[in-house]
Amino acid sequence: MDLSVNIAGIDLKNPVILASGTCGLEQAKFTDFSRLGAIITKSVTLDSNIGNPPPRVAETHCGMLNSIGLENPGAEKFIANKLPLWLKYNTPVIISVAGKSQKEYIEVIEKFEPTPIAGFEINVSCPNVEHGIEFCKDANNLGRLCSAIKKVTSKPVIIKLSPNVTDIQAIALSAENNGADAISLINTLHGLKVDLETKNAVLGKITGGLSGPCIKPVALACVYKVSMVCKIPIIGMGGIMNAEDALEFIVTGASAIEIGTANFVNPNAGIEIIDGIEKYCEKHNIPDIKSLVKSRKF
Ligand SMILES: Cc1cc2nc3c(=O)[nH]c(=O)nc-3n(C[C@H](O)[C@H](O)[C@H](O)COP(=O)(O)O)c2cc1C
Repeated sequence: MDLSVNIAGIDLKNPVILASGTCGLEQAKFTDFSRLGAIITKSVTLDSNIGNPPPRVAETHCGMLNSIGLENPGAEKFIANKLPLWLKYNTPVIISVAGKSQKEYIEVIEKFEPTPIAGFEINVSCPNVEHGIEFCKDANNLGRLCSAIKKVTSKPVIIKLSPNVTDIQAIALSAENNGADAISLINTLHGLKVDLETKNAVLGKITGGLSGPCIKPVALACVYKVSMVCKIPIIGMGGIMNAEDALEFIVTGASAIEIGTANFVNPNAGIEIIDGIEKYCEKHNIPDIKSLVKSRKF
């Protein structure tokens, strides 16, 4: 049974990746990181960021809202203190990069370039901060950012897109035409929860990003649309809770998938999804997972 995939030059043992912002080093107590296809870190910015005011997470029907606001120690401290711990596992580490301007994205990438990380996922799609998102709302802006990034790194560049846009195909094509090695999608959708006793928003920042099973149909439709126009690999995510969900994304057009909210429910979800994919392949006599990618009949 061959579950290995190659995404933009990164060799993965299997197509299951832990999504940015949803997995921490403490999870290693409950799961075996070395079995995963790859791990994507919390988004790293140039300077440290304390994030948004609390409360920053809330449960919703079939999902969760978060407004963490890209809390992180900044690139230099991350490289000194956290990166060595992530690199201990025999699993590719992809750095999620966020920034307020093109210059900031570039500076973060330049700091990580000499390190033994596998590649970059560029977060231009966080709904919980004021900046960065402008890159994925405008095809020209995103194109300029992609070509500037490709000039300063020889590592694979994955562009992570938002569903909160009018024409996701135009945005994805601009990334591809300007050198992106892969597209990942989707980041969270705008969401709001109200406390009827206080008539206040539940989240400190009022709105947040919606994730989990409730967004799966939106995410699948985005993978489908982008797979119709782009040739570069797609990494799909949004509401994947089990192997069947993951396989729906793969059949639709994703070469790999990311697990986000599921980590909060079951820290071993990634491994269980790998096992479930393997069982499905055995049952259906599929010797190589790659043959399932975009095998849809629609
Ligand atoms: C608490 C939380 C924090 C997140 N932080 C980040 C982040 O730092 N960078 C990023 O690109 N995406 C971040 N995301 C988005 C996830 O990586 C993923 O795109 C999204 O949650 C959809 O997948 P899911 O439905 O499987 O959770 C975060 C999501 C959650 C729930």
